[in-house]
Amino acid sequence: DTRDPTSLRTPIVAVLGHVDHGKTSLLDKIRGSAVIEGEAGAITQHIGATAVPLDIVSSIAGDLVDPEDFDLPGLLFIDTPGHHSFTTLRSRGGALADIAILVVDVNDGFQPQTLEALDILRRSETPFIVAANKIDTVPGWNENEDSPINATYESQTDRVQGRLDEQLYEIIGNLSDEGFSADLYWRVQNFQRNVGVVPVSAMTGEGVPDLLAVMMGLSQRYMKEEMEIDVTGPGVGTVLEVKEEKGFGKTVDIVLYDGTIRADDQLVVGGQNDPIVTDVRALLQPRPLAEIRTESRFEKVDEVSAAAGIKVAAPELDDAMAGAPVRVVRDRNLEDVVHEVQAE
Ligand code: GTP
Ligand code: MG
Repeated sequence: DTRDPTSLRTPIVAVLGHVDHGKTSLLDKIRGSAVIEGEAGAITQHIGATAVPLDIVSSIAGDLVDPEDFDLPGLLFIDTPGHHSFTTLRSRGGALADIAILVVDVNDGFQPQTLEALDILRRSETPFIVAANKIDTVPGWNENEDSPINATYESQTDRVQGRLDEQLYEIIGNLSDEGFSADLYWRVQNFQRNVGVVPVSAMTGEGVPDLLAVMMGLSQRYMKEEMEIDVTGPGVGTVLEVKEEKGFGKTVDIVLYDGTIRADDQLVVGGQNDPIVTDVRALLQPRPLAEIRTESRFEKVDEVSAAAGIKVAAPELDDAMAGAPVRVVRDRNLEDVVHEVQAE
């Protein structure tokens, strides 16, 4: 395959689930950083975005992901809050996603926001897998840092294996009660028809290689047509956050889910009253693996392609709103683009 991987669209992966079930920790493990320590009371209050390049995915997943088998540039993870008051943010994150990870704490099982997330995924027909998290808390667990699930499972005593099996089958039963046919991921043939359950620990990294391998497989198999859409057209995105940035004034953090955005583009951004028409002053890209919410060192770039999290500095952004649409005008008729933004 000689296609240029950078011409394929990066899949957007939403991470959803009940408060404290370990969404941010799981992304931290993948990032090897600790956003969670920077969050007020460790409760996620905003949507975040983190780009994980293919070579990092394959270095974490080891034998489970051979980069030669994939022509995707990587994955863009969207972190969402689990606290009950953030329903809008969760549905926004869910709506942006191509695929999703529903995180469920194996001790706590299904909780109200787990069910709410399932509803969002059902309504948006988003393919997803379940990360059955915190397997390291099974009493007597023998930790094998960053190990694939098969190897660490084999190293557990019969009692520990039995206890984990019970917890996993409870989750599979809960999914079935909600109308989703589910099974342990290695028994699933078709991830579009059946939900794969991946046992993981965000703390020890056990099962994380499996999780990444399944996400890559899902993207490659079922999202292919989407990934091959033209990523050179005028960009389309959603505002995550409106923020004051030193030296730049008001900026917007956006998730670009289609096309490109360039440093000399004209933009239409949804505002509190009318759509805002403005010119990009700077495109500020977080470093790979950095969480856009907490990143402090951005690189000025000339162009970005979907999917990406990017900070945009531009005049007139005071009335911009989280959740609002963003569209690049480029060679299109400005009036038409304004109408599109108004209609969204
Ligand atoms: P919200 O963003 O508020 O919805 O929470 P969250 O789902 O992002 O959970 P978070 O990652 O903040 O983790 C909540 C708590 O669970 C923290 O104290 C983590 O250290 C702990 N935790 C997360 N994953 C694991 C795990 O795999 N094992 C253990 N033992 N603890 C975990
Ligand atoms: Mg969180």
